[in-house]
Amino acid sequence: MKKRIIISLFFLLFSVSYVFSQKPNLPERIILNLTETPHNSIAITWQSSQKYLNPKVEYSISTKWTEYKKNKTITNASIDSLIFDDGKKVFYYSAVLKNLRENTVYIYRVGSDTLWSEWNQFKTASSKSEPFRFVYFGDPQNNLREDVSRVFREAFRKCSDAAFWLFVGDLTDEPFDNEWEEWFEATGFIHRMIPSVMAVGNHDLSYGIVDGKKKRINDYLLWKKMFTLPENGLENMKESVYYVDYQGVRFIFLNTNYNLEEQAKWLEKILSSNNNKWTIVTYHHPIYSTGEGRDNKKIRDMFMPIFDKYNVDLVLQGHDHTYARTFRIKEGNINPKGTIYITSVSGPKQYRANPTYKNLIEKLDSFTQLFQVISINGNKLTYHSYTASGELFDHFELIK
Ligand SMILES: [Fe+2]
Repeated sequence: MKKRIIISLFFLLFSVSYVFSQKPNLPERIILNLTETPHNSIAITWQSSQKYLNPKVEYSISTKWTEYKKNKTITNASIDSLIFDDGKKVFYYSAVLKNLRENTVYIYRVGSDTLWSEWNQFKTASSKSEPFRFVYFGDPQNNLREDVSRVFREAFRKCSDAAFWLFVGDLTDEPFDNEWEEWFEATGFIHRMIPSVMAVGNHDLSYGIVDGKKKRINDYLLWKKMFTLPENGLENMKESVYYVDYQGVRFIFLNTNYNLEEQAKWLEKILSSNNNKWTIVTYHHPIYSTGEGRDNKKIRDMFMPIFDKYNVDLVLQGHDHTYARTFRIKEGNINPKGTIYITSVSGPKQYRANPTYKNLIEKLDSFTQLFQVISINGNKLTYHSYTASGELFDHFELIK
């Protein structure tokens, strides 16, 4: 009897200490995304494993002490959810903060009535063509926690004032929740301060076996739940085909996985109405492929004449797990008025560089994890590519 009481007491104590040792269900995987008007709005997305009844964002203009807490604005967030194959249920929340002041540091937290994140800060863009820098990453994709964390952190050290981070797809190897968990571990608090914009790669899509064949199912479902990206592009390709005007630069995001013809028509429309000084286009599959045994003729034939016609300055790409920066190219030839095409890679998966287009490429290399810092200042664009160790790898300037 005495022994039974001791065992019962032990289990009671164990259960009580277990309950108290559990972390509260705080907001997780908080990420800022650029909107189509980054001078007066910003998008915030986060998630939790238990449902918040009144999800919201509290925000204010940042102050030097804690006065901002007296002057908060509240925006309610929308709720979405997903049940994974293993039965895990996740709740996703998103909100767009609107009517913000331009060029201003804001402070915000996400959560609900009793559970809140820490306060984080971001800066809105200017509505004018003022200088800024951003970071461009090629495919991170594999071993995110183990091998890509250092690339993200080195990029933050090199360019802590980045206006945003730009990804060209294949963020994870499979669009699975456990890989995204690694992603947010690798990026740490950076996504809570520096907004991101991203193009969809082939590995960001969900596939399944239908009638014995590998088919695309649910498209980029998880992507749309985890990010809140602009919807000013094609209606049937929301949050993967869109554009953002940022301080004198038009950034255009394409989805090179499918529907190329439809995107080409949209691209022409978006470029013909572009009043920005600079134009940067970004997507996943490179026009001049440097991956082993690869070529993307369809993409080249569809988009390149449009880039030529509208004098696109820079094209940022991924997919090939190599580094390649072309000379300026127009109509397939080196031309001082042409477009520069770049392929880069941030992750550990690397291919031997395929030399098919070596005559058009000024710098070609592989087996190097990289990130790029691109600065725009009036009529000057400055490009620096750095290795994961922080050493300068490639550099050029464009003047117009
Ligand atoms: Fe890819």
